[in-house]
Amino acid sequence: MNSTEPDSARVSRIRAHLLDHYGRAQRDLPWRRRSDPYGIWVSEVMLQQTRVETVIPYYLRWMERFPDVESLAEANLDEVLLLWKGLGYYGRARNLHRAAGVVRERFAGRLPSDPQELRGLPGIGEYTAGALGSIAFGRAEPAVDGNVRRVLSRLFDLEEPGPSRVRSLASALVDPERPGDFNQALMELGATVCLPGRPDCGACPVSSDCMALEAGTVGLRPPPTSRKTVPVITVATAVVYDEVGDRFLVRKRPTEGLLASMWEFPGAEVEGDVPVGVELALQSLPAGLSLPVDVPELARALVEVRHAFTHLRAIYRGFLVPVAEAEPAAEFEVVDDPEPRRRWASCEELSQMALPRAQERLLQVALEAIRSAS
Ligand code: ADE
Repeated sequence: MNSTEPDSARVSRIRAHLLDHYGRAQRDLPWRRRSDPYGIWVSEVMLQQTRVETVIPYYLRWMERFPDVESLAEANLDEVLLLWKGLGYYGRARNLHRAAGVVRERFAGRLPSDPQELRGLPGIGEYTAGALGSIAFGRAEPAVDGNVRRVLSRLFDLEEPGPSRVRSLASALVDPERPGDFNQALMELGATVCLPGRPDCGACPVSSDCMALEAGTVGLRPPPTSRKTVPVITVATAVVYDEVGDRFLVRKRPTEGLLASMWEFPGAEVEGDVPVGVELALQSLPAGLSLPVDVPELARALVEVRHAFTHLRAIYRGFLVPVAEAEPAAEFEVVDDPEPRRRWASCEELSQMALPRAQERLLQVALEAIRSAS
């Protein structure tokens, strides 16, 4: 494909056909019934990396509990993470919470419309700023997500759909009268018609302007991205179960980094997919926890749990460590510590705490092991 800009007649046709199709075929989604920037912001953050069908119930619960910037800024991070539980990529929830605090302090609780100010907020990058600028504030800005990139790669038969080329095409196309609808129409087309593996070109409102369709290259656009090999870690995990109190030992992760501020079973990480034994898992336990001397013999290996993070694959090798009337160290008996780093928690309590998905699965395999032993 050459790198000239699309001619104005073609741009007008594409805009008209896309907007017309969007008017007829758009899905009725809860955030499309709102016009407040906060409501749009939450939806755009949830929709990053997560499918529309998955987002809807989370969005409705979130808007019910945190209907505005103020209520979110006021909330405790634990509650925010709990409401996000199951959506994954928890950094999005932490950033929304932090950004709400900034919007309250610096912008009197109103999301700024200025693109630079938006970009200065935690979690708002080029895509989200463009989506908010166009949908919430009516500015003619592009919003390029994965769906839009695929649609434009085909519409313009791009052999190399690099970010700046795609963004410049998206900028040239965006309808200045209805930028929010136009950007959502492009996203919608990518999500419902111009699908990755099986595009439905017969139903496409812009097929007559699709250069890849004409060239017979739809299936080649965009080219597959080369999968980088991601690092692997093995986490030797101790699922300490107090048989008398029917509760588990958990700790809170640090406030920064992967899965920040979420709860987990104590574990020790090693690099690579390597065998690890119970001794390593036990090393991660608090020094003051008095365990029976025969713990290594009592411990039972659990079914392994794997989880793929964006830049990391983790293998959790869990060991169920049953103890009777375990004596916890004094440090985590401090009941009025507002942020306890370690605690005992029953299943009921764990269900009300922000546990990452892999830890929930570890809990499930541990419960199955406990049940089969009794
Ligand atoms: N994906 C990202 N933003 C979206 C939106 N506003 N509508 C549908 N899908 C989306």
